[in-house]
Amino acid sequence: MKSVTLAMTGASGAQYGLRLLECLLAAGCQVHFMISKAALLVVATETDQPLPARPNALLAHLCERFSCTPEQLKVHGPEDWMAAVASGSGAPSSMVVCPASTGTLSAIACGASNNLIERAADVALKERRQLILVPREMPLSAIHLQHMLSLTQMGATIMPASPGFYRQPQSVADLVDFVVARILDHLGIEQSLLPRWGE
Ligand SMILES: Cc1cc2nc3c(=O)[nH]c(=O)nc-3n(C[C@H](O)[C@H](O)[C@H](O)COP(=O)(O)O)c2cc1C
Repeated sequence: MKSVTLAMTGASGAQYGLRLLECLLAAGCQVHFMISKAALLVVATETDQPLPARPNALLAHLCERFSCTPEQLKVHGPEDWMAAVASGSGAPSSMVVCPASTGTLSAIACGASNNLIERAADVALKERRQLILVPREMPLSAIHLQHMLSLTQMGATIMPASPGFYRQPQSVADLVDFVVARILDHLGIEQSLLPRWGE
């Protein structure tokens, strides 16, 4: 079973993170899931299904919503320093921050490690593992651009939440799936959301 760390932070685009979680679970991955306080607020603002804040309640909610078991889905709180993702010896080989706020992106670029999301990303970088960040902001300041460049130079992949329109999307769900499909491609997980160019 492939294991992936997924963190949702407080940028707009909660649907990207939720759809990615759904697809990872449907593909049979084990997911270590974290969500920031700001992301909970964004989920409540952008969707009609707010998420509970406490990890146990969140786990129960997500297991019911996505029909998975607590063995497949691990939910960690912001200061759950004993979680596997906090250490290079236990963390999965891939981590995605989707959506990624510019605040968390900057903290990761600087190695702040002030909460478990930042620490898990720091672990991914130090262990030279796959780290994918999906920022959403516009316009971008020099600070954002500089942090994205330094993260890329450290080995992370910046995948802005900017769907293409060349497949003639018919709905918001199509636009969300465009971005999620590209992330799944990078994770090496089979997906049928979006045909590859040329297929
Ligand atoms: C509804 C809403 C939308 C937001 N959209 C964005 C956004 O698109 N990009 C971004 O970087 N921050 C956005 N923010 C601001 C972040 O949530 C804020 O900077 C927060 O401190 C990020 O914290 P986190 O990185 O711990 O999630 C938004 C906040 C709210 C409440």
